[in-house]
Parts: sequence; C-alpha cells; structure tokens
Amino acid sequence: MKEPKIKFDHVTKIFETRNQSITAVKDYSMEIQEGEFVAILGPSGCGKSTLIRMLDGIIPTTSGDIYIDGQKVNHEKKKMPQEVLRKMGFIFQQPNMLPWFTVRQNISLPLQVFALKGAKWEKQVDELLEMVGLKEYANAYPSEISGGMLQRAGVIRAMVHDPEILLMDEPFGALDELTREQMNMELLDIWSKTGKTIVFITHNIEEAVLLSSRVYVMGTQPGRLVETVDLNLPRPRQLSMITQPEFIEYRQKLERFIGKIDLSKIK
Ligand SMILES: Nc1ncnc2c1ncn2[C@@H]1O[C@H](COP(=O)(O)OP(=O)(O)OP(=O)(O)O)[C@@H](O)[C@H]1O
Ligand SMILES: [Mg+2]
Repeated sequence: MKEPKIKFDHVTKIFETRNQSITAVKDYSMEIQEGEFVAILGPSGCGKSTLIRMLDGIIPTTSGDIYIDGQKVNHEKKKMPQEVLRKMGFIFQQPNMLPWFTVRQNISLPLQVFALKGAKWEKQVDELLEMVGLKEYANAYPSEISGGMLQRAGVIRAMVHDPEILLMDEPFGALDELTREQMNMELLDIWSKTGKTIVFITHNIEEAVLLSSRVYVMGTQPGRLVETVDLNLPRPRQLSMITQPEFIEYRQKLERFIGKIDLSKIK
C-alpha cells in the first residue's frame, strides 16, 4: 500500500502551564492519503488547532510521531526542514494580511520565504489571482477589499508556493453564511482541479459533510479522537445536496457523536 501523505501515530500533547498540565491531545492516530479531503470536527478546546500546529512544526509533540510522506517530522529540538515545510500551505481563521502590502505583495510572501524567484512564480501569482476573481484588486491594499475577498486572498496565499497539502484552520468561520457557502464551493473547485491533500478544521457539521470524504470527530478533556466517519456521498458536491436524505443522515450521525452541542454558537 502507498505511504500515507500524513500520519499521526499515537500523538499526545501536554501543555505544562504554571499551575496545571493540560492534555490538549491524547493518543491521536490518523492516516490521510494523498489527494484526500478530510475534515476535523469538534467543540472548542478539543485540540484541533494543536493538531495542525504540531503538523506544521510550530510546536513539538509530547509523545508519539507525525509523518509526512513517510518522513518523521516531529524531531525534538530540531526545526522542520524547508523542503518539508514547503509541502504545506496554512490557511488561518483570520486572513492575517499585512496592511502596508498590496494584495499581490501579500500573496507573494511565501515565495520570499521559500526563495522562489522568476517568471514561473510570477505567473503562478497571476493565475491564482485570476482564479479567485482578484485580478483587478491585485494592487489594492487589504483595507480596500471586502472580507470575502480577503479570505480568498488568504486561500491563494497558502497555495502560491504550490504546496501538496493545505491545512485550513476554520478558514471561513468569520464570514457570513452566503459568502461562506460560496467559498466552500470555490474550495471544492480548487481541490478538484489541483488534487491537493486538504485537512479542513471546522465547528460546523454541515460544512464538514458538504466538503470532505471523511470526518474525524474529536471530543474534549482530554482532546481526543472520538469517531471516524467515512462519507459516502457523490462528487462533485453541490449545495442542493444538504436537503437530501443521505446528507441529513450523516449530519444527524455526527450530531449524535458531538452530543448535540450547537457548534455554530461556539466561537
Ligand atoms: N500554548 C498553550 N499553552 C497552554 N495551553 C494551551 C496552549 N495552546 C492550547 N492550549 C490548550 O489546549 C487545549 C486545546 O486547544 P486548541 O487551541 O487546540 O483547541 P481548538 O480545538 O482549536 O479550539 P477552538 O475551536 O476554540 O479553536 C485548550 O484547553 C487550550 O487551552
Ligand atoms: Mg482552534
């Protein structure tokens, strides 16, 4: 069998603070194959961001190992190698654009980080701007464009160095419902065109079912994997599917696992 793109092998993360130790993630294992679109779903504080931050090398694991393409990436006290970092693009909950840079300059930042120069990469920036309808706004500043446009800029900034994996930590949580639905459909379109591996974190059950092929359901105290649900729904996915019986069945199943918490109200 092919090496998984991403593998968590019994990963635990304990944060030691001044007066307590918090088990943010306990004994977490999962395997994601190349080109899969998976969702991680769970209530606030269950360790979703911690998982992504360990995968991206921002924080080390306490025990257990993380692999990308079979390569162990959680080396203790050692920074993640550039060639592994380059495989990943990170999309945050907030767009985090630098206000004194134009949209184009903001989007091009990863190219500077990874020292990628030349016409090929400039063309890549142009194509991505075009793809998400931001070409006319390339020279605008972040304060001059809408929230949805900013979020789109965040998505393509994570893709500009052509990563193989997109890590998305509640990327559309701050958007209104309509823009969010539009962004979700655009993301599915990007995914089907590029074949990237996508790990999508969300509080939103409907969003998880609409987008992904498998949902990892997490619980709190300690943060842990509660259930893995494979979604047998046809692709391409369409918004109209959310009223279909198969969709509703998955949604209700996930609601039962989460314990009927109204996740949309948790921020
Ligand atoms: N640097 C840190 N130091 C101490 N505790 C931390 C740190 N980072 C996270 N935690 C704790 O670990 C737990 C998991 O946090 P994490 O941010 O991963 O949750 P989350 O699932 O992403 O939540 P949310 O949905 O609200 O973003 C929480 O109890 C949090 O307080
Ligand atoms: Mg989080």
